[in-house]
Amino acid sequence: MKRSLLFLSCLLVLNLSADEDFISHYEYGEMLYHNPRGVSCSQCHGESGEGTTIVEFRDIHGKQAIQGPDIRQENLSSMFNAVNGYHKIMPRYYLTEEEVKAIYDYLQEKNREYLSKIQERNSTK
Ligand code: HEC
Repeated sequence: MKRSLLFLSCLLVLNLSADEDFISHYEYGEMLYHNPRGVSCSQCHGESGEGTTIVEFRDIHGKQAIQGPDIRQENLSSMFNAVNGYHKIMPRYYLTEEEVKAIYDYLQEKNREYLSKIQERNSTK
């Protein structure tokens, strides 16, 4: 029963992502950001890509923290390379260009205000 439910929900997700009309590009990106094939991006990069502390611990050097970086200003091609490359901590995802674009567009839209402020600041320098 559990298994068939899982299968059904997979089918549903596949179906949703194939049908652009059913959910918007923004919703598709939101879904991928929170539930890509693997661990959610938000667990390490925060709710909106602003970055977060993944874990804190203590060792002989004292208090340590592993941070997921702020990815709000990342451009599309470096995001694609990051998602599909090897890292020390971040998993490798194997997402398609279209999937990374959806995540990228979602983060751009979600952080529109923040990003336009940054742009303003940079242009008045
Ligand atoms: C387990 C935690 C974790 C998850 C999950 C994760 N990341 Fe990362 N990500 C990191 C860390 C840590 C780095 C810095 C490189 C490293 O040490 O691995 C990074 C680097 C990046 C970078 C490059 C930014 C830079 O400053 O180098 C991008 C872009 C990125 N991640 C996007 C994503 C996206 C999109 C997802 C979801 C598909 C995702 N990450 C999932 C932890 C994670």
